Amino acid sequence: MLHGEAIEPPPLWLMRQAGRYLPEYREIRSKAPDFLGFCFDPDLATEATLQPIRRYGFDAAILFSDILTVPHALGARVWFAEGEGPRLEPVRDARAADALQFDATKLAPVYETVRRVRAALPASTTLLGFAGAPWTVAAYMVEGSGSRDWIEAKRWAYGRDGFDLLIDRLVDATVEHLALQLEAGADAVQIFDSWAGALDPAGFERFVIEPTRRIVGRLKQRVPGARVIGFPRQAGALYPRYADATGVDGMSLDSGVPLDWAVGAIDRKVALQGNLDPLRLLAGGASLDASVDAIRRATHGRSFIFNLGHGVLPPTPPEHVAQLVERVRA
Ligand code: CP3
Repeated sequence: MLHGEAIEPPPLWLMRQAGRYLPEYREIRSKAPDFLGFCFDPDLATEATLQPIRRYGFDAAILFSDILTVPHALGARVWFAEGEGPRLEPVRDARAADALQFDATKLAPVYETVRRVRAALPASTTLLGFAGAPWTVAAYMVEGSGSRDWIEAKRWAYGRDGFDLLIDRLVDATVEHLALQLEAGADAVQIFDSWAGALDPAGFERFVIEPTRRIVGRLKQRVPGARVIGFPRQAGALYPRYADATGVDGMSLDSGVPLDWAVGAIDRKVALQGNLDPLRLLAGGASLDASVDAIRRATHGRSFIFNLGHGVLPPTPPEHVAQLVERVRA
């Protein structure tokens, strides 16, 4: 689905298709002591990856893991405070960045999960691996948690030396992590830059475009035929620039992007993905059907992968996902 051809109906998967909206996910999630322990248990992570495929028959499975496994493998402490989101031991100067060393053996259970999922999936179902983009992962590492404004991360990125060293370490680790997933059996990978939209255009060029361009180039050299989807969330008018400059094969669009504009402005050799507002899915009903139809119309004849503009939200009724699948394939 990442070779530039238009497929009707479009292939379909959803970001966060495995997660708390599914009762069967909540059931197995309660068996793990903590969230990272869950990600690092190949039995549980394989099962979580397969659950949404069994229930809905999506065209792609996405590995069940998290972007913050990479800081963990770099030696920064990461934990998930129940109900509060991620916490990390903050990295705030060049010395701390220089001390980071990627140890892929810490992620061996992730690659084992990839192998098991690939073996369990039908050949026609694509398996996607993923990683966070350097800017987004650095933002969590510098803040020590999620943030609305990313003040500490941007203060360092814009104002002091050493931030590029942190980005460089993350570029190296990300290439390695994605290559190991592809070598274990992932068919393609997605790079999540969830906080790309927090940067100004100059910051976007230096901390989003440049590191992603290096990752894509090195990955394609190391793994011939590697396919990459980029997701610079809330990049707005900079989406076409990202598509031209990074070398990605596909690009995911958030829900704020007018699709008619994107279809005209983004190079046709880059497949498009995404855009349905997760709240349309949560709301369901006629508004969901109308939104699905509008996306199908706007992307007709274009290489497109049906998806949301961001992840499935925990209060989403599972029946609404069934309605979406039926409508996309109608
Ligand atoms: O189904 C899938 O999409 C695959 C698995 C996946 C998870 N996280 C599982 C998860 C993927 C691809 C991610 C990516 C991820 N993780 C991103 C980028 C995408 C995005 O959402 O913007 C980010 C920023 C993270 C970091 C992260 N992980 C946060 C901020 C949180 C807490 C927020 C929350 O929803 O609770 C997580 C935890 C997390 N990662 C959960 C899941 C299913 C929920 C935790 C739980 O079940 O207890």
